[in-house]
Amino acid sequence: MCGIVGYIGEKQAAPILLDGLARLEYRGYDSAGVAVYHDGKIEMVKASGRLSVVADMTDNGKSLKGTVGIGHTRWATHGSPTDVNAHPHFNEKESIVVVHNGIIENFQRLKSILMGYGYAFLSDTDTEVIAHLLDFYYKGNPLDAISKAMQRMEGSYALGIIFKEFPDNLFAVRKDSPLIVGKTSDGSILASDVPAILNYTRDVYYIENEEIVRMSASSMEFFNIDEKELIKEPVHINWDADAAEKGGYEFFMLKEINEQPKAVSDTFSPRIKNDIVDIEDLNLSDEEIRNINKLHVVACGSAWHTGMTAKYIYEGLAGIPVEVDLASEFRYRDPILPEGTLLIIISQSGETADSLAALRLAKKKGIKVLAIVNVVGSSIAREADIVFYTMAGPEIAVATTKAYSCQLIAHYLLAMKFAHVRGKISDVELKEMISAMRELPGKINTLIGEKERIQRFANRYLAAKDVFFMGRGIDYAISLEGSLKLKEISYIHSDAYAAGELKHGTISLIEDGSLVIAILTQKDLYAKTVSNIVEVKSRKAFVMVVTNESNKEAESVADYMVYIPETNKYFANSLAIIPLQLLAYYISLGKGLDVDKPRNLAKSVTVE
Ligand code: G6P
Repeated sequence: MCGIVGYIGEKQAAPILLDGLARLEYRGYDSAGVAVYHDGKIEMVKASGRLSVVADMTDNGKSLKGTVGIGHTRWATHGSPTDVNAHPHFNEKESIVVVHNGIIENFQRLKSILMGYGYAFLSDTDTEVIAHLLDFYYKGNPLDAISKAMQRMEGSYALGIIFKEFPDNLFAVRKDSPLIVGKTSDGSILASDVPAILNYTRDVYYIENEEIVRMSASSMEFFNIDEKELIKEPVHINWDADAAEKGGYEFFMLKEINEQPKAVSDTFSPRIKNDIVDIEDLNLSDEEIRNINKLHVVACGSAWHTGMTAKYIYEGLAGIPVEVDLASEFRYRDPILPEGTLLIIISQSGETADSLAALRLAKKKGIKVLAIVNVVGSSIAREADIVFYTMAGPEIAVATTKAYSCQLIAHYLLAMKFAHVRGKISDVELKEMISAMRELPGKINTLIGEKERIQRFANRYLAAKDVFFMGRGIDYAISLEGSLKLKEISYIHSDAYAAGELKHGTISLIEDGSLVIAILTQKDLYAKTVSNIVEVKSRKAFVMVVTNESNKEAESVADYMVYIPETNKYFANSLAIIPLQLLAYYISLGKGLDVDKPRNLAKSVTVE
C-alpha cells in the first residue's frame, strides 16, 4: 500500500505534492519522492526514510520549480525501501515518469520481455516496468501508450504519469487501487485518497477500474481503456481531514477490519498461478520441501496464534510434524532443532525483539529460517533465509486484524504447497482448496456486513468482568486470538481454553451469567465441544456460539448464534475471527476507550 499525488496548475507543484503526501503517510512511510517538470526537463528527488527527508532535500518543495508534478509515499512490496527503489520511476531517457500504488503481478515476465528489447533496469520494483512499458508503446500519443500498457499489466495499479513531451498534461489511471481526482481553483489534482486533496477541493471524481484521466490546468477528461471519452459526475466530500485519513471510520481498527478482504486477496493472488501455488521466488526447491522433517514455528502475540492455527494445517494437510513456540520462550531454552528442521518466524513488524532473537538463535544452530513478514526490509526480513511477504499494507491500530488475516493466508499457501509437493494432496484437491481460497474475501466481506448485529450484542456486555473462549483444534487457536483481541482493547479479563481442559480447573470460575464464547468450525469435533457447552450451561453461563452455517447441533444449547459461511475446514479461522474482531472492537468502542491505542501496549515491541 502506497500513496500517490499529482498536481497541474498555476501554482508551484512541489509544495502541494508534499502537503498531499503528508496526509497520505498513513498509507506508507518507508520512502518518498516527487518529480516535477520544469523548463524542458523532469526533475526528481527521492529518498528512503520518512517524507521529511524529501521535504528537507527540497526546502519543503520550494527548490523544485515547475507547476506540474507527481509524488509518492511508499510502503515497499517489491524491493527493499532504498533510495533507488523509491518512486517516482523514469524510463531510460527520463522523458516519462511514473508513481504507482499497487502490485504488478506479471512484472517479472514483462521485465524479461523488456530486457530482451534492451531495456535496462535500475531498481527491484515492479513499478519501473511500467515506465519502460510506457516507453515501449509511446509513439507520440500518451493515451495510446497508456491504453496499450494497461492491456499488458496484470494486478493492481493507480498511476500518476507525466510525459515530458506533453508538459501541459498530467495522466492518471487505475485498476483495483484507489484513485481520485479533483479540480481546484487553480488547477487539477489527483491522489490515492481524499485526505490529500481536502485542502484544495471538496468535489472529487472517483476513478473506476480501467479508466484513464487526462488533466490540464483547466480541464479534466476521462477515457475508458479503448480511449473512448466518458462523462463522470463529481462527488462532494463532507468529512473533516482527520476522519478522511481514517477513510471516514472512527478508528483505524475498523478501517483495517474492513480492508481484510482486499489484504487477503492481495496476499494470495500473486501466489496462485494456473491452479498451483507459486512460491518460486522464495527459493525453496521441491527437493528441500520433500526433505523437511519438522517445522518449528516461532512468534509472539497474534502472530503466534497464527502459528497455533498453522500447526493443525501443516500436520493435517502436509503430514509434517510441527512445534509451535513463543519467541520469548524459545530464545531462553536450548531448543532441539534436528537436521531437516525449517524454522518459520511470523511477524507483522519484522522488528519484534524476541522473534528476531529467536531467528538469530536458529541461524546460529545452522537452521534455515523462513519468515512471514509484513514490513518489507525490516530486520527479520533482512536476516531470514527466505521471506514470504504478507500484503496487508501498513497497519496502524495496535490490535492487529488485517496482518493477522494475511499471516493465515501465508500459512495456508505454504501448507498447500508442501502437501502437494509431498504427494499428500492431489491436483484436484489442490484446485478445490484454491477455489475455496478465492472465495474467502467475499465471505469475509459478508461477515463484516453483519457488524450491526455484533454491535448490538457487544453493547450488552460492556460491563462484563470475565469472558471465556473455548474450542478444540483450530477452534482453540481461534479462541486464543478472539480472547486476546477482547482483552487488549476492552480491558475485560478474558481467557481461551482448549474445550477439553475446562473441567480441569476453569469451570470453577463459571457462574450465573458468565459469558462463554464457543467456537465450533471443525465438524469432527462438534459433538465434543457441544458437550462442553452443556457443562457450562448447567453452571448458568450465557453461551455465544460461532459455527458453520450447516451446523444445527449447537443451536439447541446456545443462547446466541453467529454463523459463518462454509469453507474448507483448514480456512475456518479466516472467517470465524471476523465476528470476534468486531465484538472486541464494539465493546471497546461502547466503553469509550481509545480503540487504536490501548493502554500499556505498543504496535511494535522492539524491546524485551
Ligand atoms: C504486539 C502487537 C501484536 C503482535 C505482536 C507481535 O504485541 O500488539 O498485534 O501480534 O506484537 O508483533 P509482530 O510485529 O512480531 O507480529
